[in-house]
Parts: sequence; structure tokens; C-alpha cells
Amino acid sequence: MKTIGEIDPELLRESQVLIRDRYTYNDLGHPAVQEIFNISTVKKADEIAESNGKRVSTGDEYLNIDLDSYDIPEHMEVGPSFLDTIMKDIKLPTLPDILMKIHEVIRNPNSSAHDMAEVISMDAGLSSTILKIVNSAFYNFQSEIDTLYRAVAVMGTKQLSALTHGIKIIDSFKGISSGVLNMRSFWKHCIACGIASRVLANYKGLLSAERLFMAGLFHDIARLALHSHASTISIYILMKSRKTCNPLRVVEKDTMQYDHAEIGGLLLNKWNLPMSLENTVRYHHTPLSADNELEASIVHISDVLINALALGSSGEYYIPTLDPGAWEALDLPEAILPLAAKEIESQIDEVFNYFFSGNSKAAMKVA
Ligand SMILES: [Fe+2]
Ligand SMILES: [Fe+2]
Repeated sequence: MKTIGEIDPELLRESQVLIRDRYTYNDLGHPAVQEIFNISTVKKADEIAESNGKRVSTGDEYLNIDLDSYDIPEHMEVGPSFLDTIMKDIKLPTLPDILMKIHEVIRNPNSSAHDMAEVISMDAGLSSTILKIVNSAFYNFQSEIDTLYRAVAVMGTKQLSALTHGIKIIDSFKGISSGVLNMRSFWKHCIACGIASRVLANYKGLLSAERLFMAGLFHDIARLALHSHASTISIYILMKSRKTCNPLRVVEKDTMQYDHAEIGGLLLNKWNLPMSLENTVRYHHTPLSADNELEASIVHISDVLINALALGSSGEYYIPTLDPGAWEALDLPEAILPLAAKEIESQIDEVFNYFFSGNSKAAMKVA
């Protein structure tokens, strides 16, 4: 990615005009927002230069349909029982047995890296995907990791377990009917947020980088669940947000009394995923209310950054409002933002393909 100084001034102005509207709900006077705005501008300028003035599809459009072709009532509001019904109706995909077996290995104090490798090797597709991800720019290990045993040894059982959960849960969701939602674009947004959260966690030297990757991966999961189980409401919310120029979250709250972050927390709870993960997802737009302010702030800032980079979409037109308190909690200089953006962009395509495009069935060596 170029720096702002390398862009032709006229192209720069054109990009700024096109981008500015998406920052309606952000304070452009905040130094971190300014830096993120510059990242958006550079990205837009590149896009304009590459497309030669033509409007090209990036494949990242959020919906498979044209919203204008939908006939939706002027006003919709759901009753207080809506959430209960949704929570009852949403059949989360059953987690595969292999995740239970991995839990057993982690819980058993006598188990070894070899036991973990043994369990993962029972799933050839999973093993192959793990080795590919471990050898990708995502981890950037110096030498090639050619066996699962080595993968467990260098990463540790907990980290590998988190990675396995990510791969398997996305796999399970592939079976869910997405209706009008472009699943590619949705998962690109989520995987990019996971990568960004991991990158920022590493800048902070946190040991929970893998957990943050998972939190990023699932931060907007309620939007997918709502699309597949309450698509009329979802489409209404999208249309209303565009018509009234309000952020999706505001319309979600007006229509359902809850926003996707709160519903996402409830879903992860229903799925028995760790409390820490549930809490971070629940507060990813209001990170100062989270149990762990720093972790929720990391996912919050990551979401802003990947929206600015336009990596996939979870339906929001506006760049989510950056909470200045979250930036304070992160406590890093603004100059890390373009570096993080560069790192995220260098990983997204490869990691997205490994997570999203399925697993090869190649048999893998355990040790
Ligand atoms: Fe969100
Ligand atoms: Fe998001």
C-alpha cells in the first residue's frame, strides 16, 4: 500500500470526497481517525487508479440482491418476545466431535503435544488446513512446519485449539442458508477483523492473540444468524439504515431493542464458548463497558480499520464510530495504524482462502 504522499494530489482530493461521507459518525479531528481516514483515502485512490474510471465489482458487495427491488413496509418493529423466539429458533450448527476431543486433550493435565496432534490428524482436511495456515504469512515462522506435532510444539495446545475452533466453526456455518447475504463478503469482513485483532494484540505483546483472533472472527456473527433466521427484519434494517442515513446499529436497536453485538454475545453463550469471548463480542462497539477493556478495544479498533480498508462487509455503509476511550486503552502511537493495515492486507487473501475455500483432503503426517 502506498503512503498518502505518494498519491497524485488530484486523485487524493477525489478519493477524499468519495470517502468523507462514510466518516459521518466519526470525529475527523481525532488523530487515530485522521490516520484511518488517510488509509481509506490511499486505498480508494488505488482503486480509482486501477479501475481507470470504470466501476468494477470487487466481489465484496454485501448482498446478492439489489435492495431497491425489495418491497418492505415503511415501519417495522418487533415485540419483546422477538429475541426469545430468535434465540430458540436459531439452530447453531452442531460443533463437530473433533472439538470435543480437543477439549478433552486440553483438560487432561497428562496429555502431550503428541496427543493433540493425534486427535487433529483424525480429520485430514483440518490437518491440511492447519499446516497451510501455520506455514502462511499469518504466522511467519522462520522454518517450514511440516508435521502436526511440530505445529502443536511451536504454537502450543491452546493456540492450536483456538485456530481449530475458528476453522471448524466457519465450516459449520457454510451449511447455513445465507439468503440474500454474500457469504464471501461477510466472512472476509470477519476474517479480516480476526487478523487485525491478532496483529494489534501482537503489537501489545498480549498472550491472548489467538483468542482475539476468534473474537474478531465472530464479532458480527449475529448479523449472519439474523439474515438466515429473520431475513425480512434484516433487509428492513439495511434499507432503513440507508434511507435514514443512520448506522445499522442504531436501526437495529430501534427495531429490535438489541443490536447485533448484544445478540452475538447471547449466541456465543448459547454455544458455550468461553465467557471472555462472549463478553468481547458483546461489547465490540462499546468496549469501555467490557470486562476486559483492552481486548474489546482491540476488536473495536480492528473493526474500524478493516471497514476503512473495505475488506469484505457486514452490511454497514458507515465506518463504525471510533471510541476515543478505546484508543486510549490500546495506548499505541497512531503511526502503527498504517503498519497494521499493511500487515492485514498482506495476510487477508491467503488466510481467507484457507478458512473459507474449504479443505483439501490430503492425508497429513502426524509426526
Ligand atoms: Fe459490529
Ligand atoms: Fe464488523
